[in-house]
Amino acid sequence: MDGTGLPTTTLGRSGLEVTRMGLGLAALGRPAYITLGRDIDLGADRDRSTMQQRCHHMLDAAYSAGVRYVDTARSYGRAEEFLASWLRARQLGPGSLTIGSKWGYRYTGAWNMHAALHETKDLSLAMFRDQLPWTMGLLGRHLALYQVHSATLESGVLDDEAVLHALAELGDGGVAVGLTVSGPRQADVVRHALEVEVEGVNPFSTVQATWNVLESSVGPALQEAHTRGWGVLVKEVLANGRLTGRGDHRSEGALEDVATRRGASVDQVAVAAALSQPWADVVLSGAVTPSQLESNLAALDLLLTQEEGEELASLTEDPPSYWDRRGALPWQ
Ligand SMILES: NC(=O)c1ccc[n+]([C@@H]2O[C@H](COP(=O)([O-])OP(=O)(O)OC[C@H]3O[C@@H](n4cnc5c(N)ncnc54)[C@H](OP(=O)(O)O)[C@@H]3O)[C@@H](O)[C@H]2O)c1
Repeated sequence: MDGTGLPTTTLGRSGLEVTRMGLGLAALGRPAYITLGRDIDLGADRDRSTMQQRCHHMLDAAYSAGVRYVDTARSYGRAEEFLASWLRARQLGPGSLTIGSKWGYRYTGAWNMHAALHETKDLSLAMFRDQLPWTMGLLGRHLALYQVHSATLESGVLDDEAVLHALAELGDGGVAVGLTVSGPRQADVVRHALEVEVEGVNPFSTVQATWNVLESSVGPALQEAHTRGWGVLVKEVLANGRLTGRGDHRSEGALEDVATRRGASVDQVAVAAALSQPWADVVLSGAVTPSQLESNLAALDLLLTQEEGEELASLTEDPPSYWDRRGALPWQ
């Protein structure tokens, strides 16, 4: 992979080359999102051109820092559009970096900070058939990975023959196929997805899941997926900001103790904990400022000891309460 000083790896049997840290655009493609300090970091001006400028600024910061994986989604407002206009403006051709997007959620915020609903979910064949052309229209041959957005067992998408065949078709066409998972039953969904078959072949080759020092329950299932050749992407490693200098673990407890001893910041320790997982191929940064990104990327040089890993495990929360608390985070 050209021009990156960052460690790289292959995203499992998708064969995609990626850097070990990627940039996620969930917080950059729309005016509102659930992370803690948006009012401080983004200020009040959230109009489209301001957000596009910020998104381009962050993509420039990531690219010049060597990041070569970018994660977006149909539902992240205009994130795919901002990414496409940045690629054009920087004259970056397909393959300059690896790009993953997602289908299954529709953005319903109408660029209104106070929308009652910012996104709705529908993991049907009709939704896939509707959203893929939009993504392809914007990203074209830049699209290397297309993921089911937050697959759940209840959605039935992993047992929907028509959807699985359509995904296998997309995979045969050269776009890698993956899924992302969310919620307290991530591990069950990952294990179910590992057993999916279309004419004897599993269409999925990557999984993206939430893992952090507060919610690590999906870890063993991700190890199984990795062992079976899947690429693993890790999201929400800062628990949407709770594991940063603004979060509820900033001043006491294991995260602070390890950070103080290592002369690091709490976000760096939290990111380093995810990077230290043997099954973690790509850890996503959700940074919205270049200084946040720089701090997150510095975690690549912070190798935690086994003892420190065990110390941080003391922070683990009961998954249902973790996800209830996440569900209560305001869109701001
Ligand atoms: N279902 C899915 O597939 C799904 C769901 C969620 C995320 N994702 C992917 O994962 C990516 C990352 O997720 P995320 O952004 O939700 O979670 P995150 O990484 O846990 O949190 C990122 C947030 O933490 C704050 N932050 C980061 N670095 C900081 C620092 N050094 N100091 C202080 N605050 C800092 C920023 O928020 P503030 O500035 O607002 O405080 C930033 O937006 C997304 O962009 C997306 O690509 C996928």
